Amino acid sequence: MPSFKAVQGTRDILPDLAPAWQVVETVVRETCERYGYQRIETPIFEETGVYARSVGAGTDIVEKEMYTFKDRGDTSLTLEPEGTAGVVRAYLEHGMFTQPQPVKLYYVRAPIFRYERPQKGRYREHHQFGCEALGESDPALDAELIALLWEIYQRLGARDIVIQLNSIGDQNCRPAYIQRLVDYYTPLKDDLCDDCKVRLVKNPLRLLDCKEPQDQPKIAAAPKSADYLCAACAAHFAAVRGYLDALALPYAINPLLVRGLDYYTRTVFELAPEQAGRRQSAIGGGGRYDGLAELLGGKPTPGIGFGSGMERAIELLREQGVPLPDPARPQVFIAALGAEAKTAAVTLAQQLRATDLRVQMAFGERSLKAQMRAANGSGARWAVLIGSGELANAAYAVRDLAAPADAPDDAKQQTIARDVLVAWLREHT
Ligand code: HAM
Repeated sequence: MPSFKAVQGTRDILPDLAPAWQVVETVVRETCERYGYQRIETPIFEETGVYARSVGAGTDIVEKEMYTFKDRGDTSLTLEPEGTAGVVRAYLEHGMFTQPQPVKLYYVRAPIFRYERPQKGRYREHHQFGCEALGESDPALDAELIALLWEIYQRLGARDIVIQLNSIGDQNCRPAYIQRLVDYYTPLKDDLCDDCKVRLVKNPLRLLDCKEPQDQPKIAAAPKSADYLCAACAAHFAAVRGYLDALALPYAINPLLVRGLDYYTRTVFELAPEQAGRRQSAIGGGGRYDGLAELLGGKPTPGIGFGSGMERAIELLREQGVPLPDPARPQVFIAALGAEAKTAAVTLAQQLRATDLRVQMAFGERSLKAQMRAANGSGARWAVLIGSGELANAAYAVRDLAAPADAPDDAKQQTIARDVLVAWLREHT
């Protein structure tokens, strides 16, 4: 028995899935760059205050899920529980507000840590790609960003997904809406699940996100934020919808959509499989956060962004049978018998790799039969066999591992002069 296992809720990305990750990263990078987003990478930990202030004291993330520790200098640090706060911190720290606005940034494969109950699609370490656009409040930017998230998933080949959209207002109209929500829920208090009793006091918006069956009818009849928007927020919401309509993006208004982080204002959205009801199946989510920069000590700066879980993206593509690439196989496998032949194999492998071929060779003192088994198992097209006879003749045996069993012997194996072997393999691979 090995002494250690990966920590609960964390996963190794093994070679069978590594190419799928690579594809997602490439599509994200290329699509974001076409929309004018530039890559940013922030550290995977920040001072705890960055997240505590941004995400909000009453949220599950800050209350229960952060990996917080003191370093040896007694500074409280937290492993990144979401990507936005670090990007806004960097925007302020590096004075990016002096650049032409909006500043449009993306990240990919950012490790995110949340101490959640592990289950399928919910991990304690997951990875996100995401975009953040800072310094602009134009609703056309909201639509462009949502279109970008949508396009990434279209390019990846995902099907049957839908964008859910809502507006939760801003600091002008939200307090009155929250009061309406509290007034509505207070007489129902005794009937609420235990979590919702706490939410009613600490974070009433989150009442709408309860998953308990007993609370669903109350949620359905609750006041809806979009009905209580101030004129400016209503106009913004209408404009976002107008642009999305013009783009013919398939979105659905979900008047009950609220998000798990406190920094959002106005537009909020999630991307989820059509059939899914539960939040945990969301493959991406985001919204505006026009007040966030101020919470981190900056000047008022509008912003909008999204984050999308890469594990969930890959699981969705696999479930939908979207073809994902296999790990790259070697094209040539070199078998060698004897010390001198081994040296010839080592040098030949390097010569072939220098011409961009993928090459493996047999290691250890193994019989020719065992080496050929390894060659066949590797998936290579060609096996090169080097023994004392081949060395003496300066010509190596080359076996076609893809030849049918009933092919004539000279189609299965031929002898190629060492001097022309590299060129021959390049030509025939
Ligand atoms: P979030 O909705 O908390 O938003 O997470 C974004 C996405 O990350 C989710 O839709 C989901 O796909 C994935 N995700 C979240 N938690 C887990 C988990 N435990 N295991 C696997 N996947 C998970 C944010 O984090 C915001 N920072 C998004 C944002 C960016 N808003 C504005 N800009």
